[in-house]
Amino acid sequence: MALPPVAVLTGVGSCLPERVVRNTDEPFARLDTSDEWIRSRTGIESRRWVEEGTSTGDLAVRAGAAALRSAAAESVDLVVVCTTTPDHHSPATAPWVAARLGLGPVPAFDLAAACSGFTYALAAGRAWITAGMARTVLLIGAETLSTITDPDDRGTAVVFADGAGAVVLRAGEADEPGAVLATRLGSDGTQVDLAVIAAGGSRRPVPERPDERGERCLRMRGPQMFSHAVRRMTEVSRGLLEGVGWPAGDVEAFIGHQANQRILDKVAELVGVPAAACLGNIRTVGNTSSASIPLVMDEAVRDKAVPAGARTLLTAFGGGAVWGAAALTWPDIPPTI
Ligand code: COA
Repeated sequence: MALPPVAVLTGVGSCLPERVVRNTDEPFARLDTSDEWIRSRTGIESRRWVEEGTSTGDLAVRAGAAALRSAAAESVDLVVVCTTTPDHHSPATAPWVAARLGLGPVPAFDLAAACSGFTYALAAGRAWITAGMARTVLLIGAETLSTITDPDDRGTAVVFADGAGAVVLRAGEADEPGAVLATRLGSDGTQVDLAVIAAGGSRRPVPERPDERGERCLRMRGPQMFSHAVRRMTEVSRGLLEGVGWPAGDVEAFIGHQANQRILDKVAELVGVPAAACLGNIRTVGNTSSASIPLVMDEAVRDKAVPAGARTLLTAFGGGAVWGAAALTWPDIPPTI
């Protein structure tokens, strides 16, 4: 009996808004914070924010188009947009993105798994391919977190950012570079208060006080989020590596969700991943939630930072709480401009 197809990553692309916001720029300049605090506590020096009028879908289209070019794919069988900041509550953003990309009447849906969105989308795309429901899949992580961030809240405003990253998966073989060999996901809904937008959903459609604009913004219990993120990303990474039989010391490329440089360092240390394997861009990109992992991948492909076939570990943690990890071999993708 023929083995089921394996999902192979064959294209990557990204899009960052042009506007650079440094730690010393507005709105941070008027907050009780400092460049030194932000750098030392988060690792962030600057981030990108969209100009008013640019939506998550706009960034997703650009990242998706770049990924399709890089994979030389003209059509796909599924489009998934993972985002916490869709263009509208309803309808989903993915069908509009698919239409803008000229992909025809393809199945398209949004996936909400906060900062773990990309690992969830990778698992979903892989499952469609393995089940024979799709031969080629476009996965896009896209966010405009600046639109749900309170610029006066120093605990979140300095961290969150905008951007989009995308990958193309196609049906292939386990020994090809880019093969997604394993994925592992988890959640703990008792931790809903770690990071939440209180109003605007069905539980509280309008803010309690109309002047309370903060209720429509993301509030985060930073230190609690920090410890859950370290614990869960460490656990899920260890379990995944055990499952695929890779000693942590053999991991050649490690990309964690770019939430905080101190979280990333701690997870790498606890899992036992070599420091030389750690890839990231939090310094200039900030926390772009579900876009962060494919954004780092695209940068690494353009920099030719990792050889094709290298053992690669991805992991993420986000509000919900949700977490995930994936093991793949580094794809063989020529860098595009
Ligand atoms: N500038 C200056 N001081 C700040 C500040 C800022 N931007 N943000 C918080 N502080 C202050 C706090 O008020 C607190 O002051 P106090 O000691 O007088 O009470 C102090 O700095 C320490 O605050 P704390 O919240 O413990 O800081 P932290 O080191 O945990 O850093 C985060 C805050 C948000 C950067 C950090 O908690 C974090 O990255 N959390 C996890 C995020 C995450 O995992 N995200 C994943 C999914 S999105």
